[in-house]
Amino acid sequence: MLALVNTPSAPIPVELREVAEPQPAADEAIVEVHAFSLNRGELALLASRPEGWRPGQDIAGVVVQAAADGSGPKEGTRVVALVDGAGWAQRVAAPTARMAALPDNVSFASAATLPVAGLTALRLVRLGGSLLGRRALITGAAGGVGRFAVQLAALAGAEVTGVVGRPERAIGLAERGATAVVTHIQEAEGVFDLILESVGGSSLAGAISKVAPGGTIAVFGNTSREETPLSFVNFVGHAGARLVAFFIYESGTPASMGVDLATLVSLVASGKLTPEIGLEDSWRNLSRAATALRDRDVNGKAVLHID
Ligand SMILES: NC(=O)c1ccc[n+]([C@@H]2O[C@H](COP(=O)([O-])OP(=O)(O)OC[C@H]3O[C@@H](n4cnc5c(N)ncnc54)[C@H](OP(=O)(O)O)[C@@H]3O)[C@@H](O)[C@H]2O)c1
Repeated sequence: MLALVNTPSAPIPVELREVAEPQPAADEAIVEVHAFSLNRGELALLASRPEGWRPGQDIAGVVVQAAADGSGPKEGTRVVALVDGAGWAQRVAAPTARMAALPDNVSFASAATLPVAGLTALRLVRLGGSLLGRRALITGAAGGVGRFAVQLAALAGAEVTGVVGRPERAIGLAERGATAVVTHIQEAEGVFDLILESVGGSSLAGAISKVAPGGTIAVFGNTSREETPLSFVNFVGHAGARLVAFFIYESGTPASMGVDLATLVSLVASGKLTPEIGLEDSWRNLSRAATALRDRDVNGKAVLHID
């Protein structure tokens, strides 16, 4: 079968190669992949992982071999799944505990946006507890996680402010539930009960200055790669505020990932959550899509089709 394989020293980061068929564990099904989405985090790994490494976490497709232990969907079921890697391929072994079935009205492209970005947004929003009548501030709001987080926080009852890098990145955020969009965190008005922070540097410093007393800042990325000078005095006026570090693979349990994926799928199916796909292309053009994502030119998720 064909798969995209890491080529860190070549001019383009991946190459389509013939590879061996996946060998599933007892609790894994073989999925014929129809679409996958890109994550900024896995693109960063392309440079640091060795030649031959097989990337790909977010996949959607059809089960062609059910799990040997009897768990999960049967052959022929359309599914979405989160895999540890090797998902940018015609077929992948996917754990049934991190898989959800798809109704007919959820496309492979929409489903492929959900695993890393959707699960991260869902679990981050839950860190704020009950958001009914509360205020949420979301940095990186134009990106993959950000666009899901804006929608999910609004669905949970929060008044949501998004932070984007430039005005045109705000497209669609108001329609999806943001009551305000600013181009710098310091422009956000008032204080916030929940702040989702992934940019780092001055953005994280800004988050501390904007958190309500007793509020939560969930730190889940450092996209800018900048550091943040931090002192106790930054918290004067923000007593009881907490900084929480979030890592998707260390949140919840593997089994609950499938449950949460099913929640996201059902929100999409009922029209309450809209996966925003800013770029859709053939997997043969992955390099172009990766460049666009890195250059902050994709509003939402980049999805590639296996053709
Ligand atoms: N902890 C976890 O488990 C976890 C899980 C998923 C993602 N993440 C991390 O969360 C972050 C967001 O992921 P994503 O998949 O949503 O990425 P993405 O789609 O590329 O979005 C990143 C957003 O950050 C904004 N940004 C602000 N300053 C930036 C800068 N200096 N360089 C690049 N972008 C900048 C960009 O928006 P503007 O152009 O509008 O500013 C962009 O929309 C990444 O750092 C990722 O590694 C962590």
